Amino acid sequence: MSGYTMLRNGGLGNGGQPWMLRWSSRIRLSWLSFTLFIILVFFPLIAHYYLTTIDDANDPDRRIFGPRTGNELCEVKHVQDLCRIRESVSEELLQLEAKRQELNSEIAKLNLKIEACKKSIENAKQDLLQLKNVISQTEHSYKELMAQNQPKLSLPIRLLPEKDDINIPLPKSKRNCGLHNCFDYSRCPLTSGFPVFVYNSDQYPFGNFIDPLIKQALEASVRNNVYVTENANNACIYVVLMGEMQEPVMPKPTELEEQLHSLPYWRTDGHNHLIINLSRKSETQNYLYNVSTGRAMIAQSTFYDLQYRPGFDIVVSPLVHAMSEPNFLEIPPQVPVKRKYLFSFQGEKIESLRSSLQEARSFEEEMEGNAPADYDDRIITTLKAVQDSKLDFVMVEFTCKNQAKPSLPTEWALCGERDDRLELLKQSTFALIITPGDSQLVISAGSAMRLFEALEVGAIPVILGEQVQLPYHDTIRWNEAVLILPKPRITEVHFLLRSISDNDLLSLRRQGRFLWETYFSTSDTVFNTILATVRTRIQIPAAPIKEEPAVEIPHRSGKAAGTDPNMADNGDLDLGPVETEPPYASPKYLRNFTLTAADIYRNWNTAPGPFHLFPHTPFDPLLPSEAKFLGSGTGFRPIGGGAGGSGKEFQAALGGNVPREQFTVVMLTYEREEVLMNSLERLNGLPYLNKVVVVWNSPKLPSEDLLWPDIGVPIVIVRTEKNSLNNRFLPWDQIETEAVLSIDDDAHLRHDEIMFGFRVWREARDRIVGFPGRYHAWDIPHRSWLYNSNYSCELSMVLTGAAFFHKYYAYLYSYVMPQAIRDMVDEYINCEDIAMNFLVSHITRKPPIKVTSRWTFRCPGCPQALSHDDSHFHERHKCINFFVKVYGYMPLLYTQFRVDSVLFKTRLPHDKTKCFKFI
Ligand SMILES: *[C@@H]1O[C@H](CO)[C@@H](O)[C@H](O)[C@H]1NC(C)=O
Ligand SMILES: *[C@@H]1O[C@H](CO)[C@@H](O)[C@H](O)[C@H]1NC(C)=O
Ligand SMILES: *[C@@H]1O[C@H](CO)[C@@H](O)[C@H](O)[C@H]1NC(C)=O
Ligand SMILES: *[C@@H]1O[C@H](CO)[C@@H](O)[C@H](O)[C@H]1NC(C)=O
Repeated sequence: MSGYTMLRNGGLGNGGQPWMLRWSSRIRLSWLSFTLFIILVFFPLIAHYYLTTIDDANDPDRRIFGPRTGNELCEVKHVQDLCRIRESVSEELLQLEAKRQELNSEIAKLNLKIEACKKSIENAKQDLLQLKNVISQTEHSYKELMAQNQPKLSLPIRLLPEKDDINIPLPKSKRNCGLHNCFDYSRCPLTSGFPVFVYNSDQYPFGNFIDPLIKQALEASVRNNVYVTENANNACIYVVLMGEMQEPVMPKPTELEEQLHSLPYWRTDGHNHLIINLSRKSETQNYLYNVSTGRAMIAQSTFYDLQYRPGFDIVVSPLVHAMSEPNFLEIPPQVPVKRKYLFSFQGEKIESLRSSLQEARSFEEEMEGNAPADYDDRIITTLKAVQDSKLDFVMVEFTCKNQAKPSLPTEWALCGERDDRLELLKQSTFALIITPGDSQLVISAGSAMRLFEALEVGAIPVILGEQVQLPYHDTIRWNEAVLILPKPRITEVHFLLRSISDNDLLSLRRQGRFLWETYFSTSDTVFNTILATVRTRIQIPAAPIKEEPAVEIPHRSGKAAGTDPNMADNGDLDLGPVETEPPYASPKYLRNFTLTAADIYRNWNTAPGPFHLFPHTPFDPLLPSEAKFLGSGTGFRPIGGGAGGSGKEFQAALGGNVPREQFTVVMLTYEREEVLMNSLERLNGLPYLNKVVVVWNSPKLPSEDLLWPDIGVPIVIVRTEKNSLNNRFLPWDQIETEAVLSIDDDAHLRHDEIMFGFRVWREARDRIVGFPGRYHAWDIPHRSWLYNSNYSCELSMVLTGAAFFHKYYAYLYSYVMPQAIRDMVDEYINCEDIAMNFLVSHITRKPPIKVTSRWTFRCPGCPQALSHDDSHFHERHKCINFFVKVYGYMPLLYTQFRVDSVLFKTRLPHDKTKCFKFI
């Protein structure tokens, strides 16, 4: 309210003013009116009285004013008197006027004072609010501290075997071995980290019979494995590597048995031993069948039903790529979804074997009285009929030009060479796999080979014969990638396959590709998967993923950061606690044992698989909202203490569905000290900021005399080994929060924009949340993708020059994403942001989130950024198309919305404030 209205209202005595105000102005005004009253009322009376007295003295008859005659002198004197009186009165009036003005100015001054008082009241209120905040924050922290001070969880008592020879008799039947009676848990405490000892096969006679390629491949994988230990005494499990035995020199089963039993840690029954027998060929043999393996677990690709112990033995995949890494670029794209052939099958049953089978079968029938129905003939006729009907293109062949040698009479032999088979599969939407009709077989090597060849090139496997046990079936949900149908449904197969939508087809194919890539593609993945299976079964968490050790560059700080004039438009809005909140690192490793218990299936069936333990992921489950008021409130900062509220309450607490947290700014910089210093200074006073990590991407160290700004939080300068844009996404151990704000050294974000971005990210922790949007556009003539930064109502990428993401994605980018992508980023010195968008969309199948309309990305005075020439764009087109090849499909998804704060553009009553003033 202005001083003017205050004066007016106060004078008229209107209500609604603070009492003090009305009081003081009324006093002054009454004084003024009083004076005026005197002037206006009393002056005529006085004058009259004066005149009449004079008149009375001279002429008692004239008691009223009126024209006078006679006595001139007297008249003159009278007029003179009057004039004098007038003069003195007007003088008096002048004085009064002066006095009035004086009073007016005093009023104005007092008004100013009132205004100042009001302001200081306002400030005091604000301070009080902040103080209250501090108190409640401290209270919270105190309570949380008290909670933490409860007795710490001490490590469990280490189980150690009393003595090594337990000498419990073996279960009556070999088949009865399970973890409960054949495994010694005392060697594998939960916190032991799963140490694995691998026998060096060169030191044992059986090592000489192993296929050298398999031996070589496995030994390389053993060297790369983090669980392998040299210390046999402490090991949880003992691995015996075997491969396909080479035919001519194969030892007799009894010899092999003897050799196994004399292994130094066999301890009479081979408990905690794992015999890994990998094969490369499609032949089904079962050499170990006649070997007594005691309490050892067996991992191989072929099992007889009688021999296989579910939950104990492991069905593994054959080693297809023994030595070479698969080349992702040779893998056919996943789109178009439908390929030339709806399905294909090539195979042959060898007649000589068949007839021998007939004999065996009639014998069996006699023995057991129930013959397994041989569906093969029905399958052949049905599939041929589909082919002849020409309703769909299908390719079925039941004889081959040159077939691989099957070793089982019931097995369909593979046709041709591997490359020819892959060629056909690349043109097939589905690949039929007919399992051997032999019900004693858990899985045959030939079927397994067909399965993995199909997965490799994206033909969706259709397995006829629901009795098969696919590799790692106790952890992998195969039905997400493979159709498994009972043989009696053969006549319905065509109908069923035709009914599946493109969306489902692609998701089956995508999942197949994930499984193949993660578990079966290289000898490393095969070996890791076998170990991970045992580890998961005995519920030991995976080894923690590697953090990038940050080598710090020492620096001098001290330059007090001023307030940047560009930040002035943040308004006087308080964006959150600044000095009141101590640094707070996100808690980590809270779910070590959930991942091998409640979360097994999610962990195994979604990227990146079960091989790493992450300190935290964006997918950790949320508590229902009442939990934070009923016992699980640690860390939560509900808005208004739970009562909610608009701007003021909102700015005082983080609210949301997850406990309080802070974020880390990661800034990649290359020899632009001044620009960098300015950017750092602008971060001064940013609430919830935990730390700034400056990734120094230049071999030339920063100038020694450089004085770094003091912005109230630590600034860590990290040295890099080489100048690479991939360094932007390294998971530095210095990053202690889940939230990472990646910004370019010249990016210019306002504090309220950053705060808002942070709050939005907290609700979309699995996505990239940021400011500048871009999209991928279809280049119609060239039938490929273009990178596009034009104005558009749809976007699919958010540039990481100013974006929040979860640290989890830094691990994935650096250690899990295919190396080919990082290589391309280094080759072009470009595209790292596109790569990150691809990665996150690939993992989540969701687009990024763009926040707020305001965007002041590049600073106008800064030196030309690297992204301004044509070649930059050209490279980005190339990157996109290359990345699509690597992933096998385009992971990016479009989005058409942008996030603004909740009360943005809402009309509010005057006692409420907006969440943010400008966004
Ligand atoms: C390992 O498995 C393969 C294929 O199943 C088989 O040919 C080979 O004989 C097995 N080796 C041993 C030692 O059992
Ligand atoms: C196991 O030994 C028996 C008897 O010696 C033999 O008949 C059978 O073929 C062997 N089985 C395998 C899978 O080697
Ligand atoms: C979980 O695993 C991490 C990494 O190995 C370890 O630092 C942490 O102490 C573990 N937590 C518990 C409760 O065992
Ligand atoms: C952006 O739009 C302009 C005009 O519509 C067009 O000429 C240009 O090629 C577009 N840029 C890209 C990268 O598509």
